[in-house]
Amino acid sequence: MTGPVDAALSADEAVTARAPAKVNVHLSVGPLRDDGFHELRTVYLAVSLVDTVTVRPGDGLALSVSGEGAHAATGPDRVPTDARNLAWRAAELLATHAGVPADAHIAIDKAVPAAAGLAGGSADAAATLVALDRLWGTRASRDDLAGLAARLGSDVPFALVGGVALGTGRGERLSPVLARGPWHWALGIAGEGLSTPAVYAELDRLRAGGRGAGRPAGGEESVLAALRGGPSSALGAALANDLQAPATSLRPDLRRALRAAREAGAVAALVSGSGPTVAALAEDADDAVRLAAALAGEGVFRTVRAVHGPVPGARVVA
Ligand code: C5P
Repeated sequence: MTGPVDAALSADEAVTARAPAKVNVHLSVGPLRDDGFHELRTVYLAVSLVDTVTVRPGDGLALSVSGEGAHAATGPDRVPTDARNLAWRAAELLATHAGVPADAHIAIDKAVPAAAGLAGGSADAAATLVALDRLWGTRASRDDLAGLAARLGSDVPFALVGGVALGTGRGERLSPVLARGPWHWALGIAGEGLSTPAVYAELDRLRAGGRGAGRPAGGEESVLAALRGGPSSALGAALANDLQAPATSLRPDLRRALRAAREAGAVAALVSGSGPTVAALAEDADDAVRLAAALAGEGVFRTVRAVHGPVPGARVVA
């Protein structure tokens, strides 16, 4: 809490914020820690696939979800509209932190598919934090918001800052990365969602068995050099993700999806985060559109998008 609650908006006003999805252009998973998380070194890139959160004054908390990302998720991946939704928890956490009642209606317009390895839920939480901070006039500092974000999930702090950043710890400790950009991608979301804990557990299982965990991603130096160098195919050679082997182990059809991306002429392709999104690096904006169209015709992907990054993190837009 950093200021008096004197700037709350009048009852009929709404605040809209947006926050981006991410691709991990480098993800190196270290040992399992005592707290159940793995020590990470990851390079996040925020991309132009964005969720929109509109908050309005309410009596208690209510949450609704609409948009393509909500419809794409089915069965156990259906986006929840209660306290299981990270945006709901973000509202509760900010209210407690600021000492205000948790009164708001939160409407999430989802473009980012759920459980896709794109941190869509984290984007919703980050957008909710900045939107409610404005609606409630709580005037939390950027540091306060980052602290709340880290308590919500490993990827939420990055959704707040956006751009390009190196994440350590669980992924929540961020340092800025110099990157020229933009880089253009086709994102293909194959099949149903994958559970992040299940993918980490599969990596532990593969490592314990001494095989099948793939070549370790190693250090992030070559990715950082490629990002400094600006748009070029150098980034393609440096992409690495330790979660790709366990994701493809759980979902063997991802191998076909990766192969389809390479055969369609991607500079390189990798699984984004814990998957199942395949991120296919393109030469430029036109090539990303061409690549997206080629991937859409493959029949492997449920959703295909041409995106670019870096883009800014969560911010109030209206
Ligand atoms: O932080 P978040 O809620 O996104 O993490 C979801 C799950 O992913 C954790 O409960 C854990 O099983 C796994 N995880 C991990 N190591 C990390 C981040 C996430 O094992 N650094």
